[in-house]
Amino acid sequence: MCGIMGFSGHEAQNSVEIVLGGLKSLEYRGYDSSGIAYFDLKGGKIKSVKKSGKLVNLSNEVNGNGKVKSDTAIGHIRWATHGKPTDINAHPHLDCSGKIAIVHNGIIENHVSLKNALAKKGHRFVTETDSEVIAHLIEDFIREKKTFYEAVRLTSLRLEGAFAILALSADEKSVAAVKFGPPLVIALKNGNFYAASDVSPLIEHTQDVIYLKNSEIAYFQGGKLSVGTFSGRKVSRAPVRIDWDSSRAAKSGFSHFMQKEIFEQPSCLLDTFSSRVSAGGRKGGLKVSLEGIKLTGDDISGASRIVFVACGSSYYASLASKYVLEKICGLPSVVEYGSEFRYENFPVLKSDIFVGVSQSGETADTNSALELARSEKAKVVSITNVPGSQITALSNRGVIYTHAGPEIGVASTKAFTTQLLCGVLLSLYIREKSGFIPEGGLNLEELFKDLVDLPKKAEEILFMDDAIKEIAKKYYKSANFLYLGRGILYPIALEGALKLKEISYIHAEGYPAGEMKHGPIALIDENMPVLFLLSKNMLSSKTISNMEEIKARGGKIIAVADYEPEIEGISDLIRIPETEGILSPVLYTIPLQLFAYHIAALKGTDIDQPRNLAKSVTVE
Ligand code: F6R
Repeated sequence: MCGIMGFSGHEAQNSVEIVLGGLKSLEYRGYDSSGIAYFDLKGGKIKSVKKSGKLVNLSNEVNGNGKVKSDTAIGHIRWATHGKPTDINAHPHLDCSGKIAIVHNGIIENHVSLKNALAKKGHRFVTETDSEVIAHLIEDFIREKKTFYEAVRLTSLRLEGAFAILALSADEKSVAAVKFGPPLVIALKNGNFYAASDVSPLIEHTQDVIYLKNSEIAYFQGGKLSVGTFSGRKVSRAPVRIDWDSSRAAKSGFSHFMQKEIFEQPSCLLDTFSSRVSAGGRKGGLKVSLEGIKLTGDDISGASRIVFVACGSSYYASLASKYVLEKICGLPSVVEYGSEFRYENFPVLKSDIFVGVSQSGETADTNSALELARSEKAKVVSITNVPGSQITALSNRGVIYTHAGPEIGVASTKAFTTQLLCGVLLSLYIREKSGFIPEGGLNLEELFKDLVDLPKKAEEILFMDDAIKEIAKKYYKSANFLYLGRGILYPIALEGALKLKEISYIHAEGYPAGEMKHGPIALIDENMPVLFLLSKNMLSSKTISNMEEIKARGGKIIAVADYEPEIEGISDLIRIPETEGILSPVLYTIPLQLFAYHIAALKGTDIDQPRNLAKSVTVE
C-alpha cells in the first residue's frame, strides 16, 4: 500500500532514473498515481513532478524533456487512502517554501488536528491528503531554527499512526528516512544512499541492506550515513545480506509476473523444505529442523490450542494448516481474521501459541492482532516471505520464512503454496516436540517420500497449462462460479475463488461442498459452472453425491481430482497426481491458479495489478 524509493548519490547524477526504476519494482504496492522530487542541480531547488494513473505517465512526463540530471531524488507510488488519486494529491508533498519534500507510506491519524494548528500558523495546504502535514510540520520546526535532522525527529514524535517517510532538504542537501510501522529498507554502497519500501528495488544495486526498526531515522548527507532513534540516541546498524538476486524480480520471458510466479512453484517448494527436512528422525522416517523457531517442549505441552491469525489468501493457508495441525498433532486450533481479531473480545490465554501468517509481513490487521496477543503474553510465531518485515519483530518465538523469493504479482501464488508447506513443517515440528501419535499413525517415511516428490508433481501440473487454458476458453464469459471442496480442500476452494475474483473480476464463491444443500444450491442452473475439488482418499463418495445434486439441477461441473471419479456428466476433468493428504492442498492450488490466470488473460484484465488492490495492506 504505497511504495517509496529514494536515492542520494555521492557523485551520481542519475538519481531520477534510479528512483523511477525503483518505483517500477514497487509498482505492485500501489498504482493509482506516482510522483518524484529531486534536487535541481542548476537552481539548487527541489523540483517535483506528480501524475495520476500508472507509473508510465510519470516516467513519460519526467523524461519528456530529455534526461534529468540530479544527485538526489525521492519518489512515491500511491494507493489512495485520503484524497482521490489526482495529480495534486500524488506525493511528494512540499512545504510552503518549496525547500522540503516528503513521500509517505502509511496513515497519519492525527492529521486533522495537526493541519488545523499549522494552518493557524500560516501554513498553506494544497492537497486533500493526510501526508502533506508532514512537510509543513518539518518546516515549522525549521522556522524555529532546528536543523533538518532535528526537525524530522521532532516531527516524527508528533505524528500518530503509521509512517515510513523519506524527506529531502534543499538547504542542507540531505535526505532523512523515518520508520514507524510500514517497512523501510536502506543501503549504503560506494557512498551512495538507497532507501525503499522493500528490497526489490535495491537488489540490483546491492544485496547488503539495513532494515530500519520502528522509531528510527536514517540521515544521509555528503556521503555519510547515520542512524538514530526518535528519542535522539545514535544507533549502529549492521547490514544483512539478502540472497534474492535481481533476476528473480524480472519477468524472464513470461507474459506476467503472476504467470512466472506460478511456474516458479516447483523450485520455491523445494527451497521451502529442502534444508529443513531430512530422512531419519528419532523414530525413523523424517526429521524437521526449523532454524529460528524457539518454541520449547514446555510451550507446546502447556498450550491448549494454536491460534492462527491472517488475512486474505494467508487466512486460507491458515485454514488448511489448522486441518494439518489437528490431524497430526491432535492440538485444537482456531483461525482468526486479523481484521476482526482486535474487535471481537477474543480471550487470549498466556499459554496460547499464535501463528501469524503473512506473505508481506506488513499487513496492519494481522500485525495489530499479534501485537495484542503479545501484550497478553502469548507466544508468537510467524510464517512470512519477507525477511526483516514488521511481523518478524513481533514474533517472540521465531519466524519460518517461506523462501518463495520476491512475489511481484499482486495476487498471491507461490507465497501461498509455500505458506501451506510451512504450515505442514510447523505441524511436524510441534508433533515431534509433543510426541503425539495421531489416530491410525502417521507414516513418516511415506510422507518424506511424498514431500521429496512434491516439486516434481507440481511440475507435472504445470505441464497441463495448455489443457487448462482450453478449459478456461469455455468458461471465461461466465458471470459467476462456485468452488466446492471438503475437509482440507475447502480452504483451497476459497483460495481458487479468490484468485478468480481478484484477477478476472468474475464473481466466485468458495463453499464446503456439503453446505451447498443448505442454501447456495438455489443458485444452480445451466449458467453456473461449479468447480469441484475431490480426492480419492478424502470423503470422495460424499463429494460425488454433492456433484449429483449439481448435475440434477443443470449446473456445469469442472473437477480437479487425483483419480477418475465414477460419475457421468463431468464437463471437464483436470487430473492431478496423488499425494499424502496433508500435502494435497499445494497440488490442488496450482490448477486453480492457472485457470484463473487464463480466464483473466482471455478477458484482458490487468493481471499483475488488478484494480483496487495492493500487494501489502499497511492500513487497517
Ligand atoms: C490474495 C492476496 C491477499 C493477501 C492479504 C494478506 O491474492 O494476496 O488476499 O493474502 O492481503 O496479505 P499478507 O499475506 O501479505 O498478509
